[in-house]
Amino acid sequence: MNPKQLVCLCNHVSALEIKKKLRAGALSTAEIQQFTTAGTGCGRCVREIEAIVKKHLEEHGKDPQFRINFK
Ligand code: FES
Repeated sequence: MNPKQLVCLCNHVSALEIKKKLRAGALSTAEIQQFTTAGTGCGRCVREIEAIVKKHLEEHGKDPQFRINFK
């Protein structure tokens, strides 16, 4: 997937923006929705967001040190 490709068309949120929040410490789809607004419109993109979150957590775990600078 091209990182600049929009995942959420309703709110113009790219995969890159979602990954930045995950690297900053987001741990769930709900947190991605809260801090990017992705998935808060029609909801069609939520499954794709969930897949990105799941893949990130499988690869990087839930290291709490990243949450220090979260938001
Ligand atoms: S495409 Fe993401 S909420 Fe509609």
